Amino acid sequence: MRFKTLGTQQPCRAVVWHPDIMVAMSDPAPRLYTDLAHLWPHLSPPEHYAEETETLRELIDDALGQPPAGQRWSVLELGAGGGHSTVHLKAHFDVTASDLSPQMLAHCNALNPDVPTTEGDMRTMRLGKTFDVVLICDAIDYMTTRDDAVAALTTVAAHLRPGGVALIAPTYTAETFTDGDVAHDATAGMNPSAPGDEAIPGVTYFSFVHDPDPADTTFEMILLYLLRDHETRQVQTIEDRHTCGLFSIQDWQDMAEEAGLDAEALAEEQDPGGTGSAWAVIFRANLTGNHAA
Ligand SMILES: C[S@@+](CC[C@H](N)C(=O)[O-])C[C@H]1O[C@@H](n2cnc3c(N)ncnc32)[C@H](O)[C@@H]1O
Repeated sequence: MRFKTLGTQQPCRAVVWHPDIMVAMSDPAPRLYTDLAHLWPHLSPPEHYAEETETLRELIDDALGQPPAGQRWSVLELGAGGGHSTVHLKAHFDVTASDLSPQMLAHCNALNPDVPTTEGDMRTMRLGKTFDVVLICDAIDYMTTRDDAVAALTTVAAHLRPGGVALIAPTYTAETFTDGDVAHDATAGMNPSAPGDEAIPGVTYFSFVHDPDPADTTFEMILLYLLRDHETRQVQTIEDRHTCGLFSIQDWQDMAEEAGLDAEALAEEQDPGGTGSAWAVIFRANLTGNHAA
């Protein structure tokens, strides 16, 4: 996962398209989705997902066209987190959101009380129904082994109706990963001035991604949060390490095939003038007919 920029520090892009338990996420579970989940809306606010979600909408339109008059396509979002994409998607689609973290789903429910949500692990969850679209964005990053990724893709296939489209957007593939990438930003809560501002923590974060063992299928994202108490003005530093999966484009396509999906890789063109999305490559997938029903 690459965080959305809160300011202008990060490179920006326009998009051109070419041909059971939380501990299972990583050990220990990322604090950002557990005891520090209250920081999520401030670190990565919903408005920063608007452009990325528009790209998803265009891809869905391209794949499925317009729904029959008076209907909307149904979308299942796996790993929907705080629902920051959901809030934009629901303007166009009938969205069902799911996530492993109850704390993140609480944010999602607060922001999207009109969207049905389910707490579940994308590797095993079965809702017993299918959707026109199944979506996994940055949450797929938490699939750290081939078995986990195939399991998540099998969940995608199990919830996709014949003729429907799946979009899977890992932040990095082996081809796009930059060892030692750093990003940093701060919220507006550092100097509360208006009534209610005190409720927002003063928080700055740094993220650093690196690959400690190029021989395995993971990379590590280290997040450092600097939290300033508004009253005492003292700063607490917290380290939060996330283990994430790193696979090549060919690996993703092979794993998708194993799950009963035919996946095409679409690449984004870098453009310093745009605002872009968190991924450089996104996979558009259809059922092959070999998936287990
Ligand atoms: C970066 S956050 C997603 C943020 C989301 N895009 C939003 O709009 O707020 C990654 C999410 O993946 C979820 N996640 C990690 N492993 C998961 C799994 N096995 N099944 C379902 N969700 C998972 C985490 O709980 C977290 O909410």
